Amino acid sequence: MATPHTTLPPLIAPSILSADFARLGEEVRAVIDAGADWIHFDVMDNHYVPNLTIGPAVCEAIRPYCVRGEAKIPIDVHLMVRPVDALIGLFAKAGASVITFHPEASDHVDRSLSLIRESGCQSGLVFNPATPLETLHYVMDKIDVVLLMSVNPGFGGQAFIPATLDKLVRVRRMLDTYQERTGRPIRLEVDGGIKVDNIAEVAAAGADTFVAGSAVFGQRDYRSVIASLRERAAGAGRGVRKEAA
Ligand code: DX5
Ligand code: ZN
Repeated sequence: MATPHTTLPPLIAPSILSADFARLGEEVRAVIDAGADWIHFDVMDNHYVPNLTIGPAVCEAIRPYCVRGEAKIPIDVHLMVRPVDALIGLFAKAGASVITFHPEASDHVDRSLSLIRESGCQSGLVFNPATPLETLHYVMDKIDVVLLMSVNPGFGGQAFIPATLDKLVRVRRMLDTYQERTGRPIRLEVDGGIKVDNIAEVAAAGADTFVAGSAVFGQRDYRSVIASLRERAAGAGRGVRKEAA
């Protein structure tokens, strides 16, 4: 019989990279009112990736908007920067809840993960489409999130890379085995090209946390697109996809 897989509820994390930057506070408030679970915050340095975006000052500026009633909505900081470590403390101080980085961008992955946890944030590693998962085996106890890129990082609005599905299945299996052994769930997040039309397939492969930039901010009605994403992710029967032979 198949082993039980995590039962963490699906989370929808709109990426503000596709928001109207001239009205960023309003945009953040609007997606949160529309049901966003996390705010995905893409940090690009024109060095690790060929684009330049936003830093800790912007994180701090949107922090007061990241609430729903009494509840604090986590800011999920995705660092596409090299080097990594100096920015960890700055983002923690600016109100980040989750900080993820790409292992090849840090000379000392274990140390960077420790710095994130010590700063009071949840930590995670991000794997590009062609980056092997090897590092993961050595740091499972130090991570709260695994983020698989389903596009090459740097830009919103790119097409989902289908090979991500088998990679998700492999990571799902690793995380389930880890959870059986330790009782601790680790989130499996996916980023790039996630749409209402493909989210069910991505959830079936094992993802439980879904970044969506252009799919959300490209629509006028944020509430209906977030509801559709959540409904299709929740209805997909997570973990049912098997890896291709
Ligand atoms: C790409 C970023 C993504 C991006 C996703 O480097 O990490 O978070 O904003 O945008 P969509 O959902 O439009 O592919
Ligand atoms: Zn991202």
